[in-house]
Amino acid sequence: MTLLKIARMGHPVLQGPAEEIADPTAPELRLLVRDMLETMEDAGGTGLAAPQVHVPRRLVLFFVSPSPGAPDGIPLTVLVNPEIVPLDRESALGWEGCLSVPGLIGEVPRHTRIRYRGLGLDGATIEREAHDYHARVVQHEVDHLDGILYPQRMQDLGRLIFESEQRHLSRSETERGEAE
Ligand code: NI
Repeated sequence: MTLLKIARMGHPVLQGPAEEIADPTAPELRLLVRDMLETMEDAGGTGLAAPQVHVPRRLVLFFVSPSPGAPDGIPLTVLVNPEIVPLDRESALGWEGCLSVPGLIGEVPRHTRIRYRGLGLDGATIEREAHDYHARVVQHEVDHLDGILYPQRMQDLGRLIFESEQRHLSRSETERGEAE
């Protein structure tokens, strides 16, 4: 088992655009994804982008646990060179955390409906429509490939708080979910 070191906010690897991947089927990517998965599971995340483990390439992985809005959840998905097209104009606020910003959560506006596309490790195209929490997770992870951390998307930094103070939020405020 290989746990990778997670870069934290302020590290340059999180600040620049990541490079396109020429061959999604390259064997070293499989090894990277295996280690990223172990790292994400160990850290209790729901998504991880390659720059977060000091690899500035365009690769993310994520899953979405079953919830009332998505009873089946989304199985573990690896996306190489992902692209997002918003399907709505308005955005919705929801709480997010990030393994690169440990201990904090913040309320972030995101598109509620998107289409996303990328390549799997077999080279096949993955194309899906996503809404709500699923859409939020994908937007959060793909932002990492463009050097953007969720606090940079926030409109009100008064809504950036320590996770341990989350209990002070009202129930209606916390229902909007949390991503990594
Ligand atoms: Ni993150």
